[in-house]
Amino acid sequence: MTRQAADLPAAGLTGRVTELDFLRGFFGQAVVSGGALLLTGDPGVGKTALLNALADAASAAGTMVLRVVGVEFDTDVSFSGLNQALFPLAGDLGELDAAHRDALRVALGFGAGPAPDRLLVSSAALALLRHVAARGPLLLIVDDLPWIDRASAGVLGFVARRLVGSRAGLLAACRTGAQSYFDRAGLPEYELKPLHDAAAAELVDARFPGLDPLVKSRVLDVARGNPLALLELPQALTDAQRSAAEPLPSVLPLGERLRELFTSRVARLPPATRALLLLAALEGTGDLRVLRAAVGRDDLLDDLAPAERDQLARIDENSRQVTFRHPLIRSAAVEASTASERRRAHQALAAVLADQPERRALHLGEACVEPDEEVASLLDEAAHRILARGDYPAAVAMLTRAADLSPGAAERSRRLAEAAYIGAEAIGEMRSAAQLLEGMRQAGPQASDPLHYAPAAMFVMLNGDGHVDTVHRLLTGAIEGGGHRYEAGDTVLVNALWSLAMTCWLGGRRELWDPFYTALARLSPAPPPLLALNIDLFADPARTGAAALPRLEAALRTVHQEADPNVIENVAGAAMYADRLAEVREPLWRSVRRGREGGLGRRHLVALMDLCTDDFHRGEWGEAAELAAEGLRVSEERGGRFFGWYFRYHQALLAAVQGRFGTSRALAGQIIGWAGPRGVRTAQVFAHQPLVLADLGQGDFESAYQHATAMSPAGTLASHVPHCLWVVMDLVEAAVRTHRQAEAERHVQAMAEADIAALSPRLAILAAASAAIAAADEQAPALFEQALSLPTVDQWPFDGARVRLAYGERLRRARAAAESRIHLQAALAAFQKLGAAPWAARAERELRATGRTRMPPAAARAAAALTPQELQIARLAASGLTNKQIAERLFLSPRTVGGHLYRVFPKLGITSRAALRDALDAVDDSLAPRPLGRGLQVGGPPVERPPRGAGVRFAQRDGGGPAGREAGQDR
Ligand SMILES: Nc1ncnc2c1ncn2[C@@H]1O[C@H](COP(=O)(O)OP(=O)(O)O)[C@@H](O)[C@H]1O
Ligand SMILES: [Mg+2]
Repeated sequence: MTRQAADLPAAGLTGRVTELDFLRGFFGQAVVSGGALLLTGDPGVGKTALLNALADAASAAGTMVLRVVGVEFDTDVSFSGLNQALFPLAGDLGELDAAHRDALRVALGFGAGPAPDRLLVSSAALALLRHVAARGPLLLIVDDLPWIDRASAGVLGFVARRLVGSRAGLLAACRTGAQSYFDRAGLPEYELKPLHDAAAAELVDARFPGLDPLVKSRVLDVARGNPLALLELPQALTDAQRSAAEPLPSVLPLGERLRELFTSRVARLPPATRALLLLAALEGTGDLRVLRAAVGRDDLLDDLAPAERDQLARIDENSRQVTFRHPLIRSAAVEASTASERRRAHQALAAVLADQPERRALHLGEACVEPDEEVASLLDEAAHRILARGDYPAAVAMLTRAADLSPGAAERSRRLAEAAYIGAEAIGEMRSAAQLLEGMRQAGPQASDPLHYAPAAMFVMLNGDGHVDTVHRLLTGAIEGGGHRYEAGDTVLVNALWSLAMTCWLGGRRELWDPFYTALARLSPAPPPLLALNIDLFADPARTGAAALPRLEAALRTVHQEADPNVIENVAGAAMYADRLAEVREPLWRSVRRGREGGLGRRHLVALMDLCTDDFHRGEWGEAAELAAEGLRVSEERGGRFFGWYFRYHQALLAAVQGRFGTSRALAGQIIGWAGPRGVRTAQVFAHQPLVLADLGQGDFESAYQHATAMSPAGTLASHVPHCLWVVMDLVEAAVRTHRQAEAERHVQAMAEADIAALSPRLAILAAASAAIAAADEQAPALFEQALSLPTVDQWPFDGARVRLAYGERLRRARAAAESRIHLQAALAAFQKLGAAPWAARAERELRATGRTRMPPAAARAAAALTPQELQIARLAASGLTNKQIAERLFLSPRTVGGHLYRVFPKLGITSRAALRDALDAVDDSLAPRPLGRGLQVGGPPVERPPRGAGVRFAQRDGGGPAGREAGQDR
């Protein structure tokens, strides 16, 4: 019998009783029936410390514990993480069936053989873990998940979902919001929160017994329960500061502060120490032998001493490794260096890694600035070794890097061709690419031209976790180096250009488009019309779309007779930002039906995407949900995993507008995390839209503004970021609600200058409504009327209802209650019909408020009775801020804020925080009208008042608001 981990205490941890209990609970469950858990939390919050405690407890209870740690700047050698994890089980490989055994041997570098399929490696790893767990409980602990190499992360993600029913558990730690190749969708997560106040104080007392009490309270205040900060902040102070003989520096946000703290501490070290830390950071494993060789001296103790003294790094004499106190210090060591220092460090490492050709080649590749055939050929060789392990994306990335570094055109093109071929050959995962490739094989003997393979390679690469920039290099290399003459009739070339356009779009950065436009301009006699049309309306429609509309009209007139699904797909692409998808619906449905009957998966997916988009805008949300679910299923089943993000985006959109905020944010977070390491910036841009809508639905206008401007800054419609067109009105509304009148006006101006109204009827409505929202009270009504009188307003029920809501809100504040009720009623009915719950609630609240057209006597008395400061505090509390937040803003103590609120309640005749908002609305009404450009100004820091308009109310939350909280009680 093994002892249960729960019997054992945790050594060395302050606080964390509940957290450790929870993890032990997971562990206890996992060793009986299997399972996986993701531990998330801020850097330094104590994830690693907790994993250590659990690992100790588990080992003591007789469980076999396997551990693996991801390392930033490790040169992403494929399967190095899996090797680390499974190495102790090498002796069990022989127990697997032959296919699994061989696949794992090759992947882990224990043996040679044909490159194993990724799925096979994954199921082999699972089989191995299950096999060993059958003998006795097993726990696999993965720390710093985002830095695990791509190939291993894929396998671990697969395994994590399939441990149920075994006696093996997988516990992985990951920084909140970090991006990774590990697919976390659907895995249970546990967020590690900061330490409670008492535990934080205890930790500081234990480590810094002599700290001045006032300094200590500042440290506690700034660190907010983050153990790393609690330990670091006092450490970074001078003796004089610690004893309060000298004042402390001013406050910074913690994340930035910690990084800055480390970077400045690394920067202060002597040059030799910094150089050593940089080497150790870039080397990855901390292997003392390698570092000694790279420095050229045996005795590194003197060099390292200052870093040890400062508790940044130390030498572990047992494992013969240099270890960093925290991964943030590793980052700081790199951040504190110059590009040429980094190049020299890579060079030195390459020179001593002669026995590890892959790592050597990668370091050399990093060290190179000029083309160099020797390095290129080493990378080339290393790519083939990696290929043997079946890591296609890494092999292609290495080969394209080799091509970049090739001085000769012939070598360059050969390497590109091979990269493209490998990309395309690694099929199996994606049928349409296989068929494409087969078609090309049959097409003729020019098969060595990368141009033939590059488009197929694109899909395979993207689907297999390749990076957009690698694909981009591959395609531009193939196009620029091809033996063609830029003839517009050259279908191979034109296909490659389509693929390049898609890649540029996904990358979402202006500069990616340059080589595309260059090639397009060289096509003779002229670019193919459909390609040109698509580019004008899809790449940067804000600038080039409107001029292309006559050509779109022509294409739309014939698309219903079109049989070629490729043409249908591309006309639909051109119609998307012009909001003309409705006219392609019927042909798109044909593609869907063909897909359902077993046709090409990719066509099916793209048609589903377009239909989802059209459904969302037309308020057909039920169908949108069905099609998004179908899209996700098809993308999994038919090997188009890459496209999953688009359907998750639609699910996130729907969840946001329907008030399922948690789901929406989780999906958006998944997309953002997935897209980051792959360079798919467009997916990230898309994912911000549901975040904007969720924030608006919850009345968090500040956050909505942040997300909207992350897509494109206020005052610009970012070049080649077409999706920013879809949040123009959201941005303006959020800006006005957060008193950023100038930003709102600049954005309206940008819409007018780009004349987005000419591009699409829907955008025309959004542009007019945006102008109305940002306008002064006198101009607003006419502008709202104009927006609502535009011809297609009834075709976009959600957009239309939002315009009516904004109009109604504005009218109500202008005391036109009867008129405002008409628009609010219409908005309410539309939101209810759509199922847009948070929006319906907002319309309802506004409607209720229209009931008070005259100043109620109680409100009049209240307005007179409140002191300016009480009114100010009451307003902030009504906006949903906690006492602590209000205190920070007004430089008061939370206790004082509570005291004020206790006095405010009876004056307003209310008994709860929840009633504040309505009471203040009444006060607002009693105080109107006010001059434009100035709110109810009271002394002290800025009050939460809009700069313009009468009585625009504060941020409101539909859920999680201040309801039921008493005045003095903080949240
Ligand atoms: N509960 C705790 N009690 C004492 N020290 C802790 C505690 N949690 C974390 N630490 C210390 O704080 C520092 C940061 O913790 P760590 O586990 O590395 O954070 P993370 O892995 O979340 O980035 C480490 O030095 C660790 O030993
Ligand atoms: Mg950690």
